[in-house]
Amino acid sequence: MRRPLLAFLALAALAACGEDRPTIDVAAAERGARVFEVKCSACHASSDAARVGPGMRDVHGAPAAAAADFPYSDALRAAGIVWDDEALVALLTQGEDWLPGINMIIEPLPETEARDVAEHLKRLSGGGRRP
Ligand code: HEC
Repeated sequence: MRRPLLAFLALAALAACGEDRPTIDVAAAERGARVFEVKCSACHASSDAARVGPGMRDVHGAPAAAAADFPYSDALRAAGIVWDDEALVALLTQGEDWLPGINMIIEPLPETEARDVAEHLKRLSGGGRRP
């Protein structure tokens, strides 16, 4: 007689875990964290804090130029981008060629590194900057 109740509880627990949390490729996120440390952290914190660039917590999945109080360029404010995997990979592999006027000049990343960094940023994101 107790089985249906257990099944119900298990389903409820599953539903609660699955809520809006994307699946993370942990190995890729770990590689991405190391790339981020070397190539991004001079300008970007993993928190909300601004350095030369805006903080990177919650950037994945958020619209561009959404960090409160950061003095973004007009180009980024007007870009109308949402930072999903593809947009992040485009920015990191093509930089200013992809988004003319962006105020972030970096050495382009190989695509594999860019994908790993996007996975790291996904792991840092809890959706806090989403509208
Ligand atoms: C030399 C400093 C510098 C480096 C290095 C750098 N960035 Fe940036 N980044 C910036 C600045 C400044 C901006 C804001 C650009 C603007 O306003 O046009 C920015 C913007 C961004 C944005 C858009 C943020 C938003 O809120 O829309 C993302 C995403 C980003 N950087 C990711 C990265 C990643 C990932 C790396 C490492 C591969 C990196 N950046 C390396 C300075 C840097």
